[in-house]
Amino acid sequence: MEWICKEYGKADSLYYQALEDVAPKAHELKIKVHCVGLNFPDLLVIQGKDQYRPVLPFSPCGEMSGEVVAMGEEVAGFNIGDRVFAGGMVWGCSKSEVCVAQQNVYKVPGGMPMREAAVLPCVFGTAIHCLKDRAQLKAGETVAILGAAGGVGAATIQVAKMMGAKVIACASTQQKRDFCLQNGADIVLDYTNCDLKQELKRLTDGKGVDVICDPVGSQYSEPALRAIAYDGRYMVLGFTAGQIARIPLNLPLLKNCQIIGVFWSTFGRKFPAKNRRNIQQILDWYEEGNIKIHVDAAFEFSDLPQAFAALEARIIKGKIILEVRKGSN
Ligand SMILES: NC(=O)c1ccc[n+]([C@@H]2O[C@H](COP(=O)([O-])OP(=O)(O)OC[C@H]3O[C@@H](n4cnc5c(N)ncnc54)[C@H](OP(=O)(O)O)[C@@H]3O)[C@@H](O)[C@H]2O)c1
Repeated sequence: MEWICKEYGKADSLYYQALEDVAPKAHELKIKVHCVGLNFPDLLVIQGKDQYRPVLPFSPCGEMSGEVVAMGEEVAGFNIGDRVFAGGMVWGCSKSEVCVAQQNVYKVPGGMPMREAAVLPCVFGTAIHCLKDRAQLKAGETVAILGAAGGVGAATIQVAKMMGAKVIACASTQQKRDFCLQNGADIVLDYTNCDLKQELKRLTDGKGVDVICDPVGSQYSEPALRAIAYDGRYMVLGFTAGQIARIPLNLPLLKNCQIIGVFWSTFGRKFPAKNRRNIQQILDWYEEGNIKIHVDAAFEFSDLPQAFAALEARIIKGKIILEVRKGSN
C-alpha cells in the first residue's frame, strides 16, 4: 500500500492505494518499510507551501526504517535482510516498500528500535548541522531553543548538551517543559506567556544568549533576537507559528550578531559525506547512551491523515511515526 498526494492540499485529501512493485535502480536499495517518520515540513510539502514542490502525484514523508529486500548492482556494503533507515529524501516514503539511493541509507545500530531509527535523520541531522556547522557552538556557551519540545527542538537540546552548552528550553505547556528537562535542558521557560527578551536576559544575568535556535518564527523571533549576546548567532530554522518575522536590520548591527539560515536537506544533498559524518556522530552518541529518541505517538499506516492532524495540533512531544508493520523492533 502507499499514500499519494494527487493535488496540493490538506492531509484528508491524500489517497491510500495499492502499491505497484518496482525494482531498485543500480545505486538503490529496496526496503520493506517498518516505520515512517513524520516531520512538520511534510505538512508543508503536501500543502505546496514548502521550498520543495514535488511533481504530482507523489508519496509524502522523507524518512523511514525497514529491512533490505533487494539491491541494485552498484550497491556495496549492505546485505539482504539488513536493518536500515534512510532520510533526507523530503518525499517518497509513505509506502510499504521504497527504493532509496544508497547515499541516504544507514544501518540501524543493534540496540536501536526501528521506530526510533525512522525519526532520527531529519531532526538530529538538522540539530547537529545547525549547532556544529552553522553556529559553530563552543562548550560553555548558552543556547536558547524555541519550540524545544518539538522534534527539531528536542534533538537540538540533546546535541547542544553533548557539545557542552547550557540550554534554555522554551515550550508552551508544563508537560512540554517537563519533557525538555527530561531531555537534558538546564532551564525551561514558557515563551508564549512572558516578556521573552527580558526573561532571556534575566536567565543569562544580563549578558544575553550566545546561540538562539528558532524553528517557530512569528511574534517570538524579534524579542528573542533582542536578547542575543554580543557576537551571538541567531539560527533561523523554521516557522511553525505561521509567520516569517521581518527583522529591523539595525538589530544585528547593534548586537554585533549574526542571523544564520539553516537548511539541512540542501546541505545533505550538496555535502553528502559531511552529512553522513554528522549522522554517524549521532549514532555514536546514541550507542554510548548519550542520546535519547522519544517517539510520543505511533499511528497505523492507514491513519496518515490522523497522524498529520496530531502534528498540526501542537500536542506532540518529540516525534511521531506511522507503523507500517505493527510491533516492529
Ligand atoms: N531548517 C531545516 O533544515 C529544518 C529541518 C527540519 C524542520 N525544520 C522546521 O523546523 C520547524 C519544526 O519542525 P518539527 O518537525 O520539529 O515540528 P514539531 O515537532 O511539530 O515542533 C514544532 C514546535 O513548534 C511550536 N509551535 C509554535 N507555534 C506552533 C503552531 N502554531 N503550530 C505548531 N507548532 C507550533 C510547538 O512548540 P510549543 O507548543 O512549545 O510552542 C511545537 O512543539 C518547522 O518549521 C520545520 O519546517 C527545518
